[in-house]
Amino acid sequence: DEVAEIRASLLEWYDENKRDLPWRRLNADEGERKAYGVWVSEVMLQQTRVATVIDYYNRWMQKWPSLYHLSLASLEEVNEMWAGLGYYRRARYLLEGAKKIVEEGGGFPRTVSALRKVPGIGDYTAGAIASIAFMEAVPVVDGNVVRVLARLKAISANPKDSATIKKFWRLAGQLVDPCRPGDFNQALMELGATICTPTNPSCSKCPVSLQCHALSLSQQGGVTQVTDF
Ligand code: ADE
Repeated sequence: DEVAEIRASLLEWYDENKRDLPWRRLNADEGERKAYGVWVSEVMLQQTRVATVIDYYNRWMQKWPSLYHLSLASLEEVNEMWAGLGYYRRARYLLEGAKKIVEEGGGFPRTVSALRKVPGIGDYTAGAIASIAFMEAVPVVDGNVVRVLARLKAISANPKDSATIKKFWRLAGQLVDPCRPGDFNQALMELGATICTPTNPSCSKCPVSLQCHALSLSQQGGVTQVTDF
């Protein structure tokens, strides 16, 4: 069926085309180490481009290679490391979250519901960590994912509307591959960043062009209400 085709095509494309990013080199069998790297990278990526994040991520991991190391840092050190990334509140949340997780002694939370209890971890970051590091079959929705799904299903809606956002989380939850949820989520984000771009999407290179309702309606550039999400 269509869902199975979308999962298979997207994962095959991701396996062949994914960017070699430092946080992707951590192995899933390292669970908590991977969770820590995914957390740091996803928080950095929230307002900053991948090319800029790579250097910051590598420096951060050299200084604080584990959650435990980070939990011993001071706010001054963390802010100094963050200099140039902006939105310093993000760095403070990483530090506060690390201290809380280490103090509670139960290890890195492994599910969305447990992760959401950590200060500064919202739906997006919780979904990313749970799916990428711990294989929980949960969705991750950012602006890129909204655009990809809106085109795939030819949905036009006001992206500022909270009912719209809920709808896309629900849709992404139905699509996410239960066997490879982290790769599936990253594939959707990567597709939005590299192929299914806001303007002039590269539909001829797209692994899910056959399943794309916007393309079949010749609306691939025209589901415009959501492209600036
Ligand atoms: N943008 C933010 N997080 C990402 C990820 N894990 N993969 C691809 N693009 C992203």
